[in-house]
This record gives sequence, C-alpha cells and structure tokens, in this order.
Amino acid sequence: MNKTNVLEFKDVWKIYRMGGEEINALAGVNLTIKDGSFTSIMGPSGSGKSTLLHVAGILDMPTRGNLLMNGKDTSTLGAREQARFRRSEIGFVFQRFNLLPQLTTLENVLLPMNQPEPQKAQEYLDKMGLEGKYSKTPNQLSGGEQQRVSIARALVNQPSLILADEPTGELDSKNAEVIMGILQDLNKKEGVTIIIVTHNQLAADFTDKIIEMRDGNII
Ligand SMILES: Nc1ncnc2c1ncn2[C@@H]1O[C@H](COP(=O)(O)OP(=O)(O)O)[C@@H](O)[C@H]1O
Ligand SMILES: [Mg+2]
Repeated sequence: MNKTNVLEFKDVWKIYRMGGEEINALAGVNLTIKDGSFTSIMGPSGSGKSTLLHVAGILDMPTRGNLLMNGKDTSTLGAREQARFRRSEIGFVFQRFNLLPQLTTLENVLLPMNQPEPQKAQEYLDKMGLEGKYSKTPNQLSGGEQQRVSIARALVNQPSLILADEPTGELDSKNAEVIMGILQDLNKKEGVTIIIVTHNQLAADFTDKIIEMRDGNII
C-alpha cells in the first residue's frame, strides 16, 4: 500500500523584504511528508526551520511555489477554508506552550473546539496524565505539565498532522523525554503524522527521519 502524502512542498520560496534587502527564509524547498511519518527538522538558528513549519501549517503562504496538503494545493483555498483546514487537520505545539494564562487547563483545551465538549477535553487531559489539574491555571503547573496541556489542546480536534516548534526547548531533559515519548506514542499507536523542529539531538533521536536545514533549504 502506498502511503498518501500529507504535505508536498514544491519549490517553495519564502522571501522577506527588510528595507532594501531580501531574505530567502525558504529557498526552493522540495519536501514530501508521508502519512504516518515522524520527522525532525534540525539546523542552525536562522536556517528557515520555523518558516518551514509555519508554511506547513498554513499560518503563512509561500512567496513562490506550492504547498499541497492531502493532495490539495493550499493556494487555491480561501482564507476561511485555510482557517478550517488549520483547525480540523493541524495541531500546533510551541516552545513556550502558548497557553492563555488567565484560563484554566480545561478552558485552554476547550478553546480550539468548535463545540465545547468538556468531557472530551478532560479525556485528552487524562491521557496526558493531568487528571486532577483541570482547574489549575498555567502558572500553577510545571513546564512539562504546561507542554502536556498544549499537546492535549493540539489533539482535541483529532488532527491528522501535529507541528511542533522546539517542543522541548524550555524543558529539562527528563521532561523532554516524557514529551518526546508522548509524541512517539501518538505517532506509533495512533498514526498521527508529526513534524518537530528541534536543536536537541536526544529529541531528534525519537523521530524516524532527521532533516537538516541550511540557508533556507534542506541539505
Ligand atoms: N517575519 C519575518 N520578517 C523578516 N524576516 C524574517 C521573518 N521571519 C523570519 N525571518 C528571517 O528568515 C530567516 C529564517 O528564519 P526562521 O525560519 O525563524 O529560522 P529558524 O527557525 O531556523 O531559526 C532568518 O534570517 C530570519 O531572520
Ligand atoms: Mg525557529
């Protein structure tokens, strides 16, 4: 059986203009991400890793070239369709967790749901080992716990793709291992396609494929 391609980058450029200068954050990237794969992206600061992830998540459109998601060219989607795609197909995990500080754990997980289903949100929190923490606010949780809340939030709409930008960047090595183990289980047991950006070789070692970036391209 051929696996379908969740993402296809076809000669993708992302060019920023700063004053008179052009920065090729992405310089003709060709990349295929297969359904059920677990990939890490490594490379020095400024090499285009976050830009690649933003384009993959339709948070940003290419300046040139095409991004196909599940075979569909994302440039043909209107803004509302893009938003719907992002919401239903993609879960985001960030280095600094990006939880809303004034909301409880449970409320943070309810946030991306179209129809708030507290029971379902609780199930995902339980799955992350956070039973009993529903009414805590982020500042009452450790970094590792906050990242697990953000993974629950990323999963609650059952996305086919998880994009994580340095998900262990703020964590000690023990918590980093816990988070990578959770992501690995999601990939291996539930077939979720995952891409992470990381500086951490130990985190990358959990993934099945490591991609190196330099100067806006894959080497
Ligand atoms: N919004 C932006 N405006 C201008 N330049 C940007 C913007 N975002 C990223 N860049 C530039 O694009 C390049 C790649 O950035 P980025 O994708 O954040 O790299 P990485 O995540 O690998 O550190 C860098 O030179 C960065 O300064
Ligand atoms: Mg970055």
